[in-house]
Amino acid sequence: MSASVISSAMEQNISQGSMIRRMFEAGIELRKKYGADAVCDFSLGNPDLAPPAEAARAMAALAERLDTPGILGYMPNGGFAWAREKVAAWLSDQQGVAIPASHVILTCGAAGAMNSFFHTVLEPGDEVLTIAPFFGEYRFYTANHGGVLRPVPCRAEDFGPDVEALAAAVTPKTRALILNSPNNPCGAVYSREDIAAVAAMLKDASARIGRRIYLIADEPYRFLAYDGIEVPSVLPYYEDAVVISSFAKNYGMAGERVGYIGVNPAMEGAGLLMDGLIFSNRVLGFVNPPVVGQYLMAECLSASTDPALAIYTRRRNMLADILRDAGYEFTAPRGTFYFMPKAPGGDDKAFVAKLAESLVLAVPSSGFGYPGYFRLSFAVEDKVIERSAEGFRKAIKG
Ligand SMILES: Cc1ncc(COP(=O)(O)O)c(C=O)c1O
Repeated sequence: MSASVISSAMEQNISQGSMIRRMFEAGIELRKKYGADAVCDFSLGNPDLAPPAEAARAMAALAERLDTPGILGYMPNGGFAWAREKVAAWLSDQQGVAIPASHVILTCGAAGAMNSFFHTVLEPGDEVLTIAPFFGEYRFYTANHGGVLRPVPCRAEDFGPDVEALAAAVTPKTRALILNSPNNPCGAVYSREDIAAVAAMLKDASARIGRRIYLIADEPYRFLAYDGIEVPSVLPYYEDAVVISSFAKNYGMAGERVGYIGVNPAMEGAGLLMDGLIFSNRVLGFVNPPVVGQYLMAECLSASTDPALAIYTRRRNMLADILRDAGYEFTAPRGTFYFMPKAPGGDDKAFVAKLAESLVLAVPSSGFGYPGYFRLSFAVEDKVIERSAEGFRKAIKG
């Protein structure tokens, strides 16, 4: 009998761990030692805002009807038909492309959406391109379904897509490319020109390798773009494109796990892809996002995200002032609630350890496949940002 409790792959995953998780644990220790108010924790991208008032309205209306038989029961695996209709209309407006409800499924967050998508389209050993720095979980979302993530470094000068390098990374096994704009962790927002260039490259590459390469727009931060910057939609540029996102960040509903996949209506064979996605949602055990979450989400679709944007804009400006005054080198994020300044001295892990000594928690950019920087999430209260100025100054002085 084997003594192993878990698979060797899982043992390796756990031992490598997530740097975000490690900082989370370091934060617990520091809080115990110095008190919760002494620690400035910028490590987690967990939106700290309340959901819009519409969520309370939806909850109250649902509570009134909870004696209806079956109200919390199973539903079609793609989500409630009425909820898909609503999301499709909202998404069509946002993306500038008419997306019918038949081309939308509801998923357990953007994470569930990616897993359902990769489960549906990947053959064993298929490669998925993305641009580094990237959201570290992409590695697992692809590996979960037999795929391999192939990160390609961004354009060094502005964190944009390096289209030539992406083209050079295409192989006969390439199946998809993930574009995450606004980008976690670096805050870049890709321009129309960049998206058009990536789309043209993928069209050529698909023809060259004789295989469909999907373009996945992962957009959970679409609503968070600053200074009036527009986040262009990828759908008009590429037929084999899907949009994946969730209501985690815009409506402060990360724990409700409601997300979606919207498939380009121009895609050939979209019906079969939808059948596959719905099947995957079921057999991966998500089945569909929770009933309550769907009701809350549907009501929130009419809510403005401007109040949240105003709060994050204020925090972004506060943190930019602190970092600039302390002498850090950074590009202010054009979107998301993350800064990614350069690590003074160049060693991101060493510098993050130094910041922790000053009771400021950040995440080394090595965790995002792009060493030499550190990520700060400003999904934190203003007072945490204010308090952090001294720690940032102390750490950079060495
Ligand atoms: C870039 C990116 N994609 C996907 C996700 C997963 O989002 P969700 O919580 O909706 O599953 C996150 C969460 O932080 C993210 O930052």
